[in-house]
Amino acid sequence: MNTEIVELNEQNIDIEKLMRAATIIVNLGTVVLPTETVYGLGANALSSTAVKKIFLAKGRPSDNPLIVHVCSVEMMEDLLKDPLDLRAKKLIETFWPGPLTLVFKRSNKVPVEVCAHLDTVAIRMPDHPIALKLIELANVPIAAPSANVSGKPSPTMAEHVIQDMNGRVDMIISADRSRIGVESTVLDISSPMAVILRPGGVTLEQLQEVLGKDGVMLDNMINGVVDKPRSPGMKYTHYAPNAPLQIVRGSKENILSYIKGKIKGNDSFIGVLCSDETKSEYQGAHVISIGSVHRLDQGASNLFAVLREFDSIGVDMIFAEAFAEDEMGLALMNRLKKAAGFNIVDV
Ligand code: TXA
Ligand code: MG
Repeated sequence: MNTEIVELNEQNIDIEKLMRAATIIVNLGTVVLPTETVYGLGANALSSTAVKKIFLAKGRPSDNPLIVHVCSVEMMEDLLKDPLDLRAKKLIETFWPGPLTLVFKRSNKVPVEVCAHLDTVAIRMPDHPIALKLIELANVPIAAPSANVSGKPSPTMAEHVIQDMNGRVDMIISADRSRIGVESTVLDISSPMAVILRPGGVTLEQLQEVLGKDGVMLDNMINGVVDKPRSPGMKYTHYAPNAPLQIVRGSKENILSYIKGKIKGNDSFIGVLCSDETKSEYQGAHVISIGSVHRLDQGASNLFAVLREFDSIGVDMIFAEAFAEDEMGLALMNRLKKAAGFNIVDV
């Protein structure tokens, strides 16, 4: 497949070029588009034919549903079973456009491929001028999972998208690095208790401010409890770098001595994922910092690029320091745990 790569500047969008992308969407093709979270692999969400191409390009299992992206609230009304209630209206008013995906009971206008035969649909309004304009020009909602090959870290830079998707989609829109750098929070509001199925760009603390402390809970799956997943995507390996990855959790001193011991007692090429505060400690390993422990929002934003960097360097094994799991640290640690396949050692 021949992939057209089009560079766009979000401050000064070339509408003619973007119109070509919109035409591809209307004609049931696939376009990789930038969003504020990660790049997405988009297609017309109202067409089974178009949506099947997404699964094919990603190598994604068909029981993992997609997020539908809209540019207005009107655009999603057709997709819902019921009118928006007060809780949904409050969430939309506070967080859209932005990194919050809401799971609603769906109407029968949603192709079953989009929602993997569930009776719900996940919808968000991205906070990115190119994404919003593309949806508006195409005048249809756009289904878009992260634009990585299934199982790999989500792409936050155009070069990562090109690595994964060149030759697999009709067009790639190449733009700036994703501002948030970690995917949206998926919040299920299809029943009375709002449940976070995936932590992301909107934090639990922010949601509690709107819904009350008891108005929102975390799904068990987030900590790796595999029961009956409410969000099918949660059961698959994700974000995995090529080398095995272990998370080391405990006091700072214990983490340092455990990882240093591994570096000393080992002939293989070891990678260490750590913070600015500790990066000078690990002599003899390939060390990559995700930033300061005081700015885990930036750490979350750097994580996927760091995981891909370990791949390009070709380390044999990676040890990662565990980070605090509040605010954006929750999303960061969720992705790191998945990347490690929940291989965590307490020291
Ligand atoms: O930030 C994001 O959300 C990015 C950008 C491109 O918008 N998209 C993204 O899509 O991360 P994806 O496909 O990689 O992740 C979608 C997640 C999966 O965990 C999936 O299981 C969940 O959303 N999901 C989708 N529809 C659902 C539904 N009806 N019920 C429960 N979970 C759903
Ligand atoms: Mg994904």
